[in-house]
Amino acid sequence: MNKKLELLQQKRNQALEGGGAARIESQHKKGKLSSRERLHFLLDEGSFQEIGMFVTHRSTDFGMEKEKYPGDGVVTGYGTINGRLVYVFSQDFTVFGGSLSETHAEKICKIMDLALKNGAPVIGLNDSGGARIQEGVVSLGGYADIFYRNTMASGVVPQISAIMGPCAGGAVYSPAITDFILMVEHTSYMFVTGPNVVKTVTHEQVTSEELGGAHTHATKSGVTHFACANEIEAIQHIKKLLSYMPQNCEDRAPLLPYEPKDESRPALNDVMPENASQPYDIREVIEQVIDSGSFLEVHKDFAENIVVGFARLAGRSIGIVANQPMFLAGVLDINSSTKGARFVRFCDSFNIPLLVFEDVPGFLPGTDQEWNAIITNGAKLLYAFCEATVPRVTVITRKAYGGAYDVMNSKHIGADMNYAWPTAEIAVMGAKGAAEIIFKREISAAEDPQAKWQEKEQQYAGIFANPYRAAERGFIDEVIEPSATRSTLIAAFKMLENKVVNNPRKKHGNIPL
Ligand code: HXC
Repeated sequence: MNKKLELLQQKRNQALEGGGAARIESQHKKGKLSSRERLHFLLDEGSFQEIGMFVTHRSTDFGMEKEKYPGDGVVTGYGTINGRLVYVFSQDFTVFGGSLSETHAEKICKIMDLALKNGAPVIGLNDSGGARIQEGVVSLGGYADIFYRNTMASGVVPQISAIMGPCAGGAVYSPAITDFILMVEHTSYMFVTGPNVVKTVTHEQVTSEELGGAHTHATKSGVTHFACANEIEAIQHIKKLLSYMPQNCEDRAPLLPYEPKDESRPALNDVMPENASQPYDIREVIEQVIDSGSFLEVHKDFAENIVVGFARLAGRSIGIVANQPMFLAGVLDINSSTKGARFVRFCDSFNIPLLVFEDVPGFLPGTDQEWNAIITNGAKLLYAFCEATVPRVTVITRKAYGGAYDVMNSKHIGADMNYAWPTAEIAVMGAKGAAEIIFKREISAAEDPQAKWQEKEQQYAGIFANPYRAAERGFIDEVIEPSATRSTLIAAFKMLENKVVNNPRKKHGNIPL
């Protein structure tokens, strides 16, 4: 028995070495952790249970049968994060550059199948040179097996992808299907074709970092939801992100203990500027309303005219969608609509109630927006809210104009409770533009057209630049003092906690893509 135990230990030691000390050293020199070090920091101490430590590849071409490493370039298994079960895979760049062989893919598929059957999140730590070049089509097949499982698991269990090295070619599509992507600045990149191909095809000169680094994807493309300064920060973000989520779509997010105290927030009465065209930071409102320090902003540097993220309200996990008057006056455009829609759909998939702060002057005009399909893209946000069945509450802080009033979680599209501050202006458009259109003839016939215009603007504003017309109709449930926002929302979400809505049975909807 002792000999057998020794052999087992020997084999384990060999697997723990991955591609060897020199390659691990080279990984460290690049500022990257090894695949096992990453898991060590991610999972609760001692909780990791490995699956498939001794799996090796089956390739025989190019002398590959002589070069085998137990584990075949990916460490897979399960463990816990803050005591909750998660399934993990961590690609090992020290073994064939973390490239994906047939067996490497099988290992990932195995834990994804377990995650789906047992209802727990999947976390992928990606660091890979892509398809194992020596294996050809079986590697491509392996990717497709993973894409298929990513899609089947979508909306059933949360899936999180951290990119901690290269992720190129078709390999990018597995993270893209998952719910959240995190990238590490300067050591990770994602692109469908790298700088060399770009140069050949389009004659553009671009570095890997510019083309597909963390900053690029966090600001320009929105492919990544978080750009992290280093791997440890990325791992901490994963843990925090998971804390707002349930384990699966049948579960509810953890409700943290909460002691009721004075919930009034007098500072909110002073947030709104005197002049309705002056900006203010909606994050100040969010911070005042939620449990102190609980906001985790998603897509922080992308489409900044809308703010989305997770927070807690009296210990309850909620998703927040808020127009940001500080950026483009909070207007809705293509990027902010898709950003908002994706977030709303995630929250709805996983039973996370939605809170909307609305201050929106409308949709962004212009050829750029029209030609790039603001119609289709704006419809995504509308569609996402319409189909959401989680508890939904809106607070209109100031402007709710035009189609954007309907889109931003209005009562008409299924919101449960809609509140307005006394500063709310709910109308088809701003008073100036409205007066110009409906009083055009009167204005041009006037002795002093400018004065007439102003008079008519004030008349229109007097009628519509307030929340009371909407409240008279019941489109607004209550007009509240800003200082009472937190207490009102705590009560509303508590009241809605057992909400049940069943949308019509269908195979699946056809969201405008
Ligand atoms: C097999 C690979 C590999 C791969 C890297 N290696 N990529 N082995 N298949 N795809 C091996 C290298 O031979 C080397 O082995 C080790 O990993 C480290 O690679 P280096 O090149 O020394 O590292 P570095 O300089 O850091 O460069 C990393 C890299 C580069 C940028 C990822 O290796 C690279 O360009 N690899 C090829 C990327 C690629 O074209 N992949 C296919 C993409 S298409 P030794 O023994 O020296 O340590 C694709 C299709 C997916 O993935 C389709 C899905 C539908």
